[in-house]
Amino acid sequence: MDFLKPRYTPMNRRRRIYEGKAKVLYEGPEPGTLIQHFKDDATAFNAKKHEVIDGKGVLNNRISEFIFQNLNDIGVPTHFIRRLNMREQLIREVEIIPLEVVVRNVAAGSLATKLGLEEGTQLPRSIIEFYYKNDALNDPMVSEEHVTAFGWASPQEIDDIMALAIRVNDFLSGLFLGVGIRLVDFKMETGRLWENDTVRIVVADEISPDSCRLWDIKSNDKLDKDRFRRDMGGLVEAYTEVARRLGILPESDTPNGRGPVLVTSKD
Ligand code: TMP
Repeated sequence: MDFLKPRYTPMNRRRRIYEGKAKVLYEGPEPGTLIQHFKDDATAFNAKKHEVIDGKGVLNNRISEFIFQNLNDIGVPTHFIRRLNMREQLIREVEIIPLEVVVRNVAAGSLATKLGLEEGTQLPRSIIEFYYKNDALNDPMVSEEHVTAFGWASPQEIDDIMALAIRVNDFLSGLFLGVGIRLVDFKMETGRLWENDTVRIVVADEISPDSCRLWDIKSNDKLDKDRFRRDMGGLVEAYTEVARRLGILPESDTPNGRGPVLVTSKD
């Protein structure tokens, strides 16, 4: 009685909606859902540099799940529904706003280069930047004027995006500080989620060591994708350390996860 069995779609027959540099989106099991699959590919400098790093996708799936689930729990809306397996999560389908929203707490990377600041300098306050998501143009930095003039987001949506970015930054800064990690900067993406007749902006894509700068508080060791961008090696070890401190190592290592490992500063 085959027709009584739940519908099962083998991986390779699912409809592929979109393939990015580090993830693939497949059609989800219900309308309005998608499956987000984390690949092991690492790219930098608009994919001029590319490598496959065994295990990166599994780690990012777990770390991003942990962050998005926590954001949902504290009332910051995201596209995340639940993790499905080692590499995949179920998400709500949203209309991605074509902006990379970067929040910076400490000077590093392109900001340090552009303004001649020493990497590691604390910024006078957190700074939000917008980059237009367009590979052909190398994701140029844009202002709010560009965003509204070209209709990528309305003024109200920009306000909502900035409010979300500040809440995500506050949450992540505290989360990482608690496990001995300094959140230097991060990138997030947002999307429009339709529910009945209303539309709201939610956090989308992923938040992982691929999209954050994370430095050990004491040693300043880099625990993020700069290890790949700067040919330092040890990327999987660094991401594993982030997962370990957050208490979310892959299933094989810790069956149930223990929650964040508090780092005290007695010494
Ligand atoms: P940047 O200093 O190179 O501008 O990067 C700022 C932050 O954004 C950093 O945490 C890395 C992240 N990022 C991405 O997630 N994707 C990108 O394509 C780039 C350039 C940066």
